[in-house]
Amino acid sequence: METVVSGIRPTGNLHLGNYFGALRNFISMQNEHNCYFFIADYHSLTTHPTPQDLHGNVRQILVEYLAAGLDPEKSTLYIQSDVPEVSELYLFLNMNAYIGELERCTSFKDKIRQQPNNVNAGLLTYPTLMAADILIHRATKVPVGKDQEQHLEMTRTFGNRFNRLYNVDYFPEPQAFNFGQELVKIPGLNGSGKMGKSEGEGNAIFLADEPGDIRKKVMKAVTDAGPTEPNQAKPEAIQNIFQLMKVVSTPETFEYFDEKYNTCQIRYGDMKKQLAEDMILFTTPFRERIKAILSDEEYVSKVARMGKNKAQESAAKTIREVREIVGFKKF
Ligand code: TYM
Repeated sequence: METVVSGIRPTGNLHLGNYFGALRNFISMQNEHNCYFFIADYHSLTTHPTPQDLHGNVRQILVEYLAAGLDPEKSTLYIQSDVPEVSELYLFLNMNAYIGELERCTSFKDKIRQQPNNVNAGLLTYPTLMAADILIHRATKVPVGKDQEQHLEMTRTFGNRFNRLYNVDYFPEPQAFNFGQELVKIPGLNGSGKMGKSEGEGNAIFLADEPGDIRKKVMKAVTDAGPTEPNQAKPEAIQNIFQLMKVVSTPETFEYFDEKYNTCQIRYGDMKKQLAEDMILFTTPFRERIKAILSDEEYVSKVARMGKNKAQESAAKTIREVREIVGFKKF
């Protein structure tokens, strides 16, 4: 049995990238493995949310996790800040994380560009906090999208360094995981890059989106004038639409439009209409469950309390052992 950990920052609603990159893989593991899934609210402080926004976002994401199929009876579903042991492990790991390696991290460089007026120490040490999230349960598998690969590499570095420094074999090496496949990057709708909440208006399709919004966003997706020769390579924006179709439409639909492209008969308007309808079909059950669970305040609070207790049990054990290893012995 593997120990599985994954998390999502509460900075907006869940989108198809979160679902196909991380959640879907996680959900399919919850029957067989020891699974922890959390809401990374400490991490979200790096962008300075207001207290009201933070609390509302955490609640919304918790509801969306449940609506997406996370089962709080099978998995431990919790809020990161309910388990302060994580911040103690973060402190220990920071003592053996070097400025140079943290500064070289791609996500740090991206953040410097995105928020040049708020380059705080939390951004720099984001990878050690993420390593603490994973190592606190001594996880071996971490279902995430491709954008988290480097963070996982750093987690292994920090865990191995701890083991070497104290001459122990305590932390296992966690691997980024996607069921039997490569890690994925789900593209967005604006022509380039990944689907993401901070990648521009209209770029992401959220599980909670209403059909009208999905149609509007998809019809605005970037395309081009169409191929001029048979079997022409697809430019990025077109590849992106095909990749989205691959995840939400049937294989027959995908092949139909692929054939149209290869024979230069593609009409992007028709393709986008079909893509929008397939996205609506795909997201509708989520949207309905989100609405139902949102109105059940008591259930959501119960889930959060249950998760807190289970996660704390595992985290407290690790912290007890880590303190002992580091040399903080009881008097
Ligand atoms: P976050 O909140 O940006 O995204 C949550 C998860 O969704 C995946 N994801 C994607 N996958 C494929 N295509 C996309 N377009 C796409 N967009 C997002 C991410 O890869 C991620 O798996 N640092 C993490 C949160 C975190 C975490 C952890 C994850 C904190 N501690 C410990 C795993 C284990 C983050 O910012 O993810």
